[in-house]
Amino acid sequence: MSGSAPELPITVLDALRPTTQRLVVNRRGSTVWEVESHRGHYAVKLGHPIEATADWPAQPWTAIAPAREGAVLHSLGLDDSAYGEWELGTWNLQPWHEGPDLYRLWEPCREKGSPVEPHTSVARGCVEALAQLHAKGWAHGDVQPAHFIIGPERTHLIDLALARGGHVPEEYDFPFRGCLVHYEAPEVARSVLATGEAEPTQEADMYALGASLLISATGWRAVEYPDDAPRPAQRRAIASGKRRPVRAPGKLGDLIDTMLSPVPGDRPTIQEVREALR
Ligand SMILES: Nc1ncnc2c1ncn2[C@@H]1O[C@H](COP(=O)(O)OP(=O)(O)O)[C@@H](O)[C@H]1O
Ligand SMILES: [Mg+2]
Repeated sequence: MSGSAPELPITVLDALRPTTQRLVVNRRGSTVWEVESHRGHYAVKLGHPIEATADWPAQPWTAIAPAREGAVLHSLGLDDSAYGEWELGTWNLQPWHEGPDLYRLWEPCREKGSPVEPHTSVARGCVEALAQLHAKGWAHGDVQPAHFIIGPERTHLIDLALARGGHVPEEYDFPFRGCLVHYEAPEVARSVLATGEAEPTQEADMYALGASLLISATGWRAVEYPDDAPRPAQRRAIASGKRRPVRAPGKLGDLIDTMLSPVPGDRPTIQEVREALR
């Protein structure tokens, strides 16, 4: 669904009674609003099914992704969140986190001949956010620059729709079919190519964190493939494990290199990265 955005479902309007609402994104499969109300400041996410097209098979799971994320947030003990169903799928609401995402914040670092170096403190904030999730025994499964919101006090890691590590009600669960390919670890790409599914792991999150920091700091993807290559071709390039010879400046460079190790066991844990950045 694109073009005209759906309306906020009645149950959400009843629960929040918004004083202001702003459409943040409306894309195939999901719509997000920023909503302010007497109850607080929230992000509201609506999922709808993606119909089949000439290039895509149907993706009915996008309709239940918000409920899955809502269940994950509850499992993690985030009480100030809720989820439910609407006509075409499911919705969730969760606290709104103010701030730019990692990719936008590091834009000045990517300008040609830029003297601006990526701040270690920003990387530390991202590491801290992922460390909190890993410490609870979860893997995120969809780590990417747009999912780190750099707030004034702390960094938040959003979009937990694909996270694994605790109970998710069966009616809202669906298999993991990989993530945004630029951030997909080679073992995940290989598994998706072979079976259509994969296992989200903390090791794969570490690869995705390395790829996220690299692209945000330098503008380069970790692995080289044409922008317009079909997704399986992109996955094959990633599965080959061949890195593009590009490095982030400073201390971050070495650390990112080890996070992007093709063998999962060679990557540092989030705790080790945390120590290294201290
Ligand atoms: N809790 C939140 N706080 C602030 N912005 C959010 C929040 N949740 C989502 N967003 C915004 O909406 C965008 C899409 O949300 P995301 O959770 O990634 O859903 P999806 O990938 O399913 O569209 C994010 O990139 C961000 O800009
Ligand atoms: Mg997302």
